[in-house]
Formats: sequence, structure tokens, C-alpha cells
Amino acid sequence: MRVETIGNCTLYLGDCAEIMPTLGRVPAVVTDPPYGIDENSKKVASRGKLAAPKDYGDFDWDKAPPAQEIIDMMRAVSDSQIIFGGNYFHLPPTSCWLVWDKQNGNNDFADCELAWTNLKKAVRRIYWRWNGMIRKGDDVREHPTQKPEGVMSWCLTHIPGAHTVLDPFCGSGTTGVACVKAGRSFIGIEREPSYFDAACRRIEKAYQQGDMFLAANDNAPASAQAGADLFAGAA
Ligand SMILES: C[S@@+](CC[C@H](N)C(=O)[O-])C[C@H]1O[C@@H](n2cnc3c(N)ncnc32)[C@H](O)[C@@H]1O
Repeated sequence: MRVETIGNCTLYLGDCAEIMPTLGRVPAVVTDPPYGIDENSKKVASRGKLAAPKDYGDFDWDKAPPAQEIIDMMRAVSDSQIIFGGNYFHLPPTSCWLVWDKQNGNNDFADCELAWTNLKKAVRRIYWRWNGMIRKGDDVREHPTQKPEGVMSWCLTHIPGAHTVLDPFCGSGTTGVACVKAGRSFIGIEREPSYFDAACRRIEKAYQQGDMFLAANDNAPASAQAGADLFAGAA
């Protein structure tokens, strides 16, 4: 098992079923487990029609959803949970689903992705276009099912008190990048070395961008400094 510490983030290369029980309790789990829909197999018709579908290797990670024990463990070790793909897993009824509307037009990709939560709130929705090459934001793709950074940042706004967030299926580290930018601590676990390396790179870059932003604003007026403070806890 490899462990990397980058600022307030700790990343584990390994199986979350083995690592999660060693971590103790965390305020929140925010995660995007495999839905078990074989997303990486290139069988989705619309994916095959993409002008230049990217080859992310031949990993088996989306052949099946996580074992129920892992879903149960994520709930047992944390106070708050936001679990993407919750409509594919066995989870109890809830008042609050977080809905990401991908505004992706007419194709056989899902129109929305649903995150199950245990939050005592109403259903909430974000529009964030994610349609082939037409994508909101400037995220660089490192993972076949990478979430937009903006969507994960929005998720964190629903758990303002969670100073530390665990993502046991962290892929290329999008939850971690959102945590860095929100000044939260992050614990990520990923099994595939190439995604783990991508997560480390992206999290390091997020810290560097925060430093640049702070340096650029050293002599800035108070209103601009308030913006820089968004990154202060992460530096
Ligand atoms: C849906 S992807 C997460 C993508 C991520 N949200 C992103 O933006 O890059 C799920 C990830 O979980 C990883 N994974 C699957 N089973 C795992 C396990 N038992 N322990 C750790 N990671 C696992 C897969 O390798 C895959 O990268």
C-alpha cells in the first residue's frame, strides 16, 4: 500500500474495503463508486460515436457495484454521506437526493446523475453541461467517469461543517481537488495506480493554484483578499 500526503490531503493506493476500517470516524463521505454499468467497456452507443473516444486502459472496475458491506461501511464510519450512483445501490429512502443535470441533449447517456444523501433537506439540483466535448469548466480529463470539479464543489456546500471528507473511490481525485479549494481536509482511496497518480497530480496542482492566487493577492484590496481566503485553509 502506498500513502501520499499532500497538504491536508492523504491518499491511499489500495482497496477501500481494507483501508477504510483502519481510518477511524470521519465527518463526511463524499464519493462516486463504480455504478456497475460497465462504463469503461465502450459498449455505450453514444460513447462509441464520440469523435475521438479516449482510451483509459482496460480496467474492470465498473463491471459490478461495490459489495453491500462497503456501502454499509461508508455509512457506519461517517456522519454525513453523499454517494453518487445511489440509484444503483441498496440505500434507505431519503428526502435529499442531489441531482446533477448534465444538459447533454438527446443520446443514451443518462440525463442526470443522482447522489443519495442522508442530509435532512429537500432534493437539490445543479445544471452543469457535460455533453461530449461541450463541457462547462476547464477540467482536464484523466478518468473515464470523472466528475466535474464544479459539481463536487457544489456537493461540499451541502455539508458546510464537514472539515474532513473521505472519498473511498476517489478515481482521479476530483473530490479532493474540490476539498482543497474549499479549505477542507481530504482522505482519498483508489485502487488503480494510474488513477491514483492522476489524483496526486491534480491535488498538488490545486494547492499550487491556491498559492499563486494568494501570492497574486498579497497587496490586493480587502475585497479581493476575501476571495483569496477561500484557499487560505488549504495552503
Ligand atoms: C466512478 S470512479 C470515480 C471517479 C472520480 N469521481 C473522478 O472524478 O475521477 C470509481 C473509482 O473507484 C475505483 N475503485 C473500484 N473499486 C475500488 C476499491 N475496492 N477500492 C478502491 N478503489 C476502487 C475505481 O478504480 C475507479 O477509479
